[in-house]
Amino acid sequence: MSIDIRPLTERDLPEADRIFRLAFGTFMGLPDPMTFAAGADLTATRWRAPACNATVGAFDGDVLVGSNYVTRWGSFGFFGPLTVRPDYWSKGIGQLLLAPTMEIFARWGVKQSALYTFPHSPKHLALYQKFDFWPQRLTALMTKRVADAPAAAPAFEGSRADLLAQARDVSGAMFPGLDVSGEVDALLDQKLGEVVTVRDGASLGAFAVCHVGPGSEAGPKTVYVKFAAARDGASFAKLLAACEALAARRGMGVVLAGVNTVCSSAYQTMLAQGYRTQYTGVAMQRGNGAGYLAAEAFVLGDWR
Ligand SMILES: CC(C)(COP(=O)(O)OP(=O)(O)OC[C@H]1O[C@@H](n2cnc3c(N)ncnc32)[C@H](O)[C@@H]1OP(=O)(O)O)[C@@H](O)C(=O)NCCC(=O)NCCS
Repeated sequence: MSIDIRPLTERDLPEADRIFRLAFGTFMGLPDPMTFAAGADLTATRWRAPACNATVGAFDGDVLVGSNYVTRWGSFGFFGPLTVRPDYWSKGIGQLLLAPTMEIFARWGVKQSALYTFPHSPKHLALYQKFDFWPQRLTALMTKRVADAPAAAPAFEGSRADLLAQARDVSGAMFPGLDVSGEVDALLDQKLGEVVTVRDGASLGAFAVCHVGPGSEAGPKTVYVKFAAARDGASFAKLLAACEALAARRGMGVVLAGVNTVCSSAYQTMLAQGYRTQYTGVAMQRGNGAGYLAAEAFVLGDWR
């Protein structure tokens, strides 16, 4: 078996997406594996945003057998979804995809890199440990049903450039150089959702990059908070309510957001506001670094 590693092209995207669903659906034991993440797009949406994403494909001849997506948020990077076609599992292809992934992080010069995975899987933990990623605290994927319509936060007043600059201030205060501008551009350019903002006096107090509904990373009837950051607990609580208002306004029944449990104040605020954990993952960070996760960091995002 000779495996060629190269970036994905547009014509690889349907098969990459098929393998993504088949691999996760098979690993999770779904009766029909292809129903995994039905209606959500976690792969092509990233390929279409090359300013903050890179792709790595594994090919057996001309046949795609696995892929990985690598995301850059300024000085911070993460990878996934990493998937290999089930009939090629445990033949070293995951590792063949991860070696160039590490080269991408090096080329980007990220200060910290990370991933989200299954805490119960010895294989997953061992695979990532080979590349110096170490298991840390649990990441809770939490949801809240949106029954009534909470008061909406006023829309951001200003240009996209203003929004990006102010958002960069909020995220950069958590970790030098943490910058999700590419993620915001991808969201707005591809019309995948909306950025929810909360003011704090004259400046931005909090923002959330929210995917909305089918075709985005959220999937049907869902607002998915891919990343959010707040300057303090008060702004964070308002931000959650504003995300719920977005869900109500857009006719979505559920807000889904991932929080790492090391961010205990954010996690406890979510519990207090009625969020319940639907799925538990674990954060792994390179060199066992802390990155931007801290007890008082009001930050959301699961790195899936
Ligand atoms: C996870 C996944 C990408 C791994 O790809 P893969 O090609 O099967 O992985 P590899 O063969 O390169 O590496 C697996 C390694 O784990 C090791 N491993 C497996 N079980 C282990 C255990 N219990 N303890 C220690 N090491 C273990 C294997 O021995 C192998 O290392 P080796 O080559 O040195 O022997 C693939 O199985 C997959 O697509 N799974 C479903 C989707 C998924 O879970 N994606 C990742 C989400 S974070």
